Amino acid sequence: MNKIGLFFGTETGTTRLIAKKMQKYLGDEICDKPLNVNRIAPADMLQYEALILGTPSYGIGEIPGKGAAGCFEPNWEEFLALMPANPDFTGKRIAFFGLGAQERYADRFCSSLFALVEKFRGWGAEVVGDWPNEGYSFDQSAALVDGRFIGLIIDQRTQGMFTDERILAWLAQVKPLLMEKLAVAA
Ligand SMILES: Cc1cc2nc3c(=O)[nH]c(=O)nc-3n(C[C@H](O)[C@H](O)[C@H](O)COP(=O)(O)O)c2cc1C
Repeated sequence: MNKIGLFFGTETGTTRLIAKKMQKYLGDEICDKPLNVNRIAPADMLQYEALILGTPSYGIGEIPGKGAAGCFEPNWEEFLALMPANPDFTGKRIAFFGLGAQERYADRFCSSLFALVEKFRGWGAEVVGDWPNEGYSFDQSAALVDGRFIGLIIDQRTQGMFTDERILAWLAQVKPLLMEKLAVAA
């Protein structure tokens, strides 16, 4: 596939909003329209060499879904359950973004992102797009590894005014890395 695949899970639509913004900034030429993981099959994702994947945070750092995270809508948990036993993400490059609420959930800000990234890393994916923690205020986050977030972090609830500039700065960083994979796949 010669475009970036963009997929998200969501409970109340905010992660969809962010995914839509990203796709708009990247443009139809290089990035396909974002799709909710509750509407796709694994093959729809596996066809891409370069991906952007987004998730909100629910539960205590669990992958969002109707199980432990307590979501009402099917989310990443239900999608991942559809994956074959050991899906091969070797050679695929993925940039992740996570949503959370730093004031209300300061003890586990965007922690679900870590669980999701670990899944794909375990399947061989190369993870890109880490992000500085400056400008956020929280106590603890599983998504913070060695002082950097493992993906773009968006808090639309309390820091929505920074969302567009954060998306643009992050896309400037990950776009060339993801495009490299498209050039190889072409
Ligand atoms: C019941 C509930 C639990 C939540 N748990 C967390 C959490 O553990 N960590 C966090 O950073 N945000 C948490 N949030 C905030 C959501 O992740 C945040 O509002 C996000 O933008 C929602 O995205 P969505 O609209 O795509 O579902 C929680 C929100 C709700 C309503």
